[in-house]
Amino acid sequence: MTHPPPGTPSDGIDLALHQVGVRFGGLVALDDVTLRVPAGRIVGVIGPNGAGKTTLFNVVCGFVAPTSGSLTLDGRPFRPRPHRLTHFGIARTLQGVGLFPGLTVLENVMAGASHAARAGFAAALFGLPRSDRDERRLRERALDLLAELGVAQHAAAAPATLPYAVRKRVALARALIARPRLLLLDEPAGGLGADDIAELGELITALPGHADGACSIMLVEHHMDLVMSVCDEIVVLDFGKVIAAGPPDHVRDDPKVTEAYLGADVPTEVTGTAPSRGAGS
Ligand SMILES: Nc1ncnc2c1ncn2[C@@H]1O[C@H](COP(=O)(O)OP(=O)(O)OP(=O)(O)O)[C@@H](O)[C@H]1O
Ligand SMILES: [Mg+2]
Repeated sequence: MTHPPPGTPSDGIDLALHQVGVRFGGLVALDDVTLRVPAGRIVGVIGPNGAGKTTLFNVVCGFVAPTSGSLTLDGRPFRPRPHRLTHFGIARTLQGVGLFPGLTVLENVMAGASHAARAGFAAALFGLPRSDRDERRLRERALDLLAELGVAQHAAAAPATLPYAVRKRVALARALIARPRLLLLDEPAGGLGADDIAELGELITALPGHADGACSIMLVEHHMDLVMSVCDEIVVLDFGKVIAAGPPDHVRDDPKVTEAYLGADVPTEVTGTAPSRGAGS
């Protein structure tokens, strides 16, 4: 990995959660969770079914308000709101794909641009006057990103006609076009085969040092092998609590982590996914 040294402004955003708790009625989904995604680093969040991973993701996106605790971005108080994420330099991909079915691949990626850049695109959609130059730039950048992710040949296609793995890459391009300084990925390997996961790992590893500007990444993921191979640090949740945190080797060897996964060995093979505790999701 060729990550830039931390601490320079172009490194991405430093995200921190401080003693965050989330309750759903009597159920404690997150309990006193403190974690940090340092600038320019890739931090994985893993844990068995029902551990609180999605809840954590939703807290950072602003879909779920914490019952206690606080968040900071680059050390400043941060109250996430879903519609304000781009304003903070944050982009996300959701579990599944979530592309607009009525738009082409290229249009989907363009639609992910920041509000300012998208004004031209929206104007184009609705036939309003707009800046041709802005739109041309946005289109070029969307095509560049699709090429970088190896799917430019599908630019004119409707998403529904494409294989799942291609659609996942388009969704990633749509997140990247906003030039995020913090990228939140929810189960990016979900539904992918072994080869696609390995390629995805390479793509993700390259993102923090991206030529367009570095970003930090928070990766919520079931596929243990992907998390182990791309993350600088891993946070393990169990029943809403952080039970282990540290570099992949450290976490892999932690008996608390193995125990959380019902005594099963943490799988490391390419197709491995975290064993299920059967709680459903
Ligand atoms: N909106 C909600 N209302 C009530 N309970 C919820 C809600 N969302 C999540 N929970 C509960 O909070 C706990 C944590 O759920 P969460 O979805 O965050 O776990 P997870 O680690 O993402 O699990 P999975 O691996 O199955 O996706 C679970 O017990 C779940 O049932
Ligand atoms: Mg989940």
